Amino acid sequence: MRAALLLAARAARLLGFLLLLFFWLDHGVLAKELQFATLVFRHGDRSPIETFPNDPIKESSWPQGFGQLTQVGMEQHYELGKYIRKRYKNFLNDSYKHEQVYIRSTDVDRTLMSAMANLAALFPPEGISIWNPSLLWQPIPVHTVSLPEDRLLHLPFRNCPQFQELERETLESEEFQKRLHPYKDFIETLPKLSGFHGHQDLLGIWSKIYDPLYCESVHNFTLPSWATKDTMTKLRELSELSLLSLYGIHKQKEKSRHQTGVLVKEILNHMKSATQAASYRKLIMYSGHDTTVSGLQMALDVYNGMLPPYASCHFMELYLDKGQYFLEMYYRNETQHEPHPLILPGCTHSCPLEKFAELVAPVIPEDWSAECMITSNNQGTKDIID
Ligand SMILES: *[C@@H]1O[C@H](CO)[C@@H](O)[C@H](O)[C@H]1NC(C)=O
Ligand SMILES: *[C@@H]1O[C@H](CO)[C@@H](O)[C@H](O)[C@H]1NC(C)=O
Ligand SMILES: *[C@@H]1O[C@H](CO)[C@@H](O)[C@H](O)[C@H]1NC(C)=O
Repeated sequence: MRAALLLAARAARLLGFLLLLFFWLDHGVLAKELQFATLVFRHGDRSPIETFPNDPIKESSWPQGFGQLTQVGMEQHYELGKYIRKRYKNFLNDSYKHEQVYIRSTDVDRTLMSAMANLAALFPPEGISIWNPSLLWQPIPVHTVSLPEDRLLHLPFRNCPQFQELERETLESEEFQKRLHPYKDFIETLPKLSGFHGHQDLLGIWSKIYDPLYCESVHNFTLPSWATKDTMTKLRELSELSLLSLYGIHKQKEKSRHQTGVLVKEILNHMKSATQAASYRKLIMYSGHDTTVSGLQMALDVYNGMLPPYASCHFMELYLDKGQYFLEMYYRNETQHEPHPLILPGCTHSCPLEKFAELVAPVIPEDWSAECMITSNNQGTKDIID
C-alpha cells in the first residue's frame, strides 16, 4: 500500500515536470524565437497591361480598363493578409501598432490596392481600435515614392547603362541562344496570328501576347482559336525565358548588383538593425511586381524559373536561437500549400545571419549609380572606382 502511494507520488511529479517542459517548449522558452520579418509580394489578379493588335478583347472589355487590380485580385490579397495574421499571431500585437509595422508599395494602382486589401485582413480593428462598429476596417498607411524616384521596388531599373550592356550580352550569349533555339519556328508564326511584329522581342511576346491571353483565360473570355493549350504552353515558356534572361542566364550576380541587390541591401540593413534594438520594427512589407519577387529570388539564387503567381509572397524571417541570429526564407506561391522553404546556396535553411550576409555580399552594390556608369567604353571610370 505504502509502496504504491510512493510510486503514485513519483509518477505525479514526473507528469508535472513533463507538463512544465511542454509548456516551455510551446512558449518558446527553449525554442527559437521570431524577431523580425520582411515580406515581398506580387499584386493580385489584374487586367492585362496591354494587348496584341488582333485581339478582339479590347481595353473596354475590362471593368476598370488595363492594368488594374480586379475583385479576384482583392480577394487574393485579403486571403494572404489572413494567412499572415495567422502565421504571426504570437509575434504581432493583436492590434495595429504603427511603430511595429511599415508597408511600402510601388506607386502603381494595383500594388497600392493589393497592399490595402491585404492590410484589411491583417489588421482588422479590435477592442479600443474599433472606430466605426459597422465597418470593421481601419486605415493603415502604405508608403510609396514616385516611379522615377523608386530605387527599391519598381524593377528592373532601366537607367543603368552597365546593366543595359549586360542585357545585350545576355541576349547574344550562347546559353540564351541555345534556350531560344527550339522556339524559333513557333515565334515566326506569331506576327500573322497576333498582329504583333516585334518577334525578336521576348518581353513583347510576354507582355503583349502571353499575358493578355492569360488574363483573358482567367476571366473566362473566349480565346482566339489559335491560342490552343500547346500554344499557351510555348508562350508561357518564352515568357519565363524572358524573365529569366532579364536577371539571370548570363552574369547573374553582376546584373543583380545593378537591380535587386539594392533591395537585398535594404532588407539586410533592417535585419542588422533588428538585432541591435529590441524595440525595432517587427514587420516590413513590400508590395511589388513579378519582376520584384523574381528579381529578389534571382539575386538570392533561389528562383524556381516560374512566373511568380498573383499574390505570391517571399518571406524572410529573422530568428533568435540560443543567442544566435538566423535567417529563414519561405515562398508562398500557392494557397493550398504551406510556404516552400528556400535554401540559400552554400547555407542551411536556417542560415546564420552573418553567413547569409557573407554569401550575398557579391550582389550588394556599394554605390549603385557609380557602378551603373562603368561601361566597356568607359574604362577610365572603372579604373578610378576599382
Ligand atoms: C503588444 O504590445 C505591448 C506594448 O504595447 C507589448 O508589451 C506586448 O509584448 C506586445 N505583445 C505582442 C504579442 O507582441
Ligand atoms: C470562370 O469560370 C469558372 C468556372 O465556371 C469560375 O469558377 C470562375 O469564378 C470564373 N472566373 C471569373 C474571374 O469569373
Ligand atoms: C511553387 O514553388 C514550388 C517550389 O519552387 C514549385 O514546386 C511549385 O510548382 C510552385 N507552384 C506554383 C503554382 O508556381
